[in-house]
Amino acid sequence: MAAGKFIAKGSFIVFEGIDGAGKTTQMRLLAGVLESLGLTVLCTREPGGTGIGTRLRELLLDPACRDINRRTEAFLYAADRAQHINQIIKPALQRGDTVLCDRYLYSTLAYQGGGRGLDTDFLLRLNTLATGGLEPDVVVLLDLPAEEGIGRVLGHGLPDRLESEKTDFFRQVRRGYLEQAARRPGIFRVVQAGAPAGEVHRRVLTALEIKID
Ligand code: TYD
Repeated sequence: MAAGKFIAKGSFIVFEGIDGAGKTTQMRLLAGVLESLGLTVLCTREPGGTGIGTRLRELLLDPACRDINRRTEAFLYAADRAQHINQIIKPALQRGDTVLCDRYLYSTLAYQGGGRGLDTDFLLRLNTLATGGLEPDVVVLLDLPAEEGIGRVLGHGLPDRLESEKTDFFRQVRRGYLEQAARRPGIFRVVQAGAPAGEVHRRVLTALEIKID
C-alpha cells in the first residue's frame, strides 16, 4: 500500500457533500485504510464534535427552530466550529493524529451561502474568526444530484430541520459546493458519489492517491 501527498501523520482531511451523499460511510472506510497504514486516526464531525457542540447541534437540527434567522444559523455553526477546533482538532493535529472531519467551513459556504443566500465575504470573515485560518490539507467533496441525496435521507426516518428543506435548496447547496471546488482546485477533490459504497470508496482512494496492492 502507498499513500499519496495528502496522507501523513498530522494531515487534516475534510469530507463534504449534501445530505445523503454518504460522508459518514466513506469516512469510516477511509479511516480503516489509514489505520492499516499505521496512522492514528481521529474521526470527528461538525456540528456536534464536542459536548458544547452536541447541544448546539440539537438546537440547529430541531424542526421546532424553523424560524431561526439565517445569520443566527451561520453564527451558531461558527460557534460550534470554534469550540471544535480548539478542543478537538488542534490538539489532535499537534499529537500527530490524522484527522478526518465530517463537514467544515465549506458546509457553511454551501448551505448558508449557496442555500440561504448569505454573502460569501461575510461568511468567510466569520469563519476566519472562528477557525483562526486553519485549513485542511484536502477536502473530499462527495458529489451527487440533489434528488438522489434527498431520496437517501428520506429512507432513514424523520427528517431533521435541514433535511426538511425542498429539493431546490439542495440544488443550490450542491452548486455552492461545486463553485468552491472550481475556485480551489488545489485542495478540493470531487468524487462522484452516486454509486455503491465500495465503488465510491475506491474513487476516494484514487482521489487521495492511495494505492492498495
Ligand atoms: P450532518 O451532521 O452531516 O447531518 P446528519 O448527521 O443528519 O447526516 O449535518 C447536519 C446538518 O447541518 C446538515 O444538513 C448540513 C448542515 N450544516 C450547515 O448548514 N452548515 C454548516 O456549517 C454545517 C457544518 C452543517
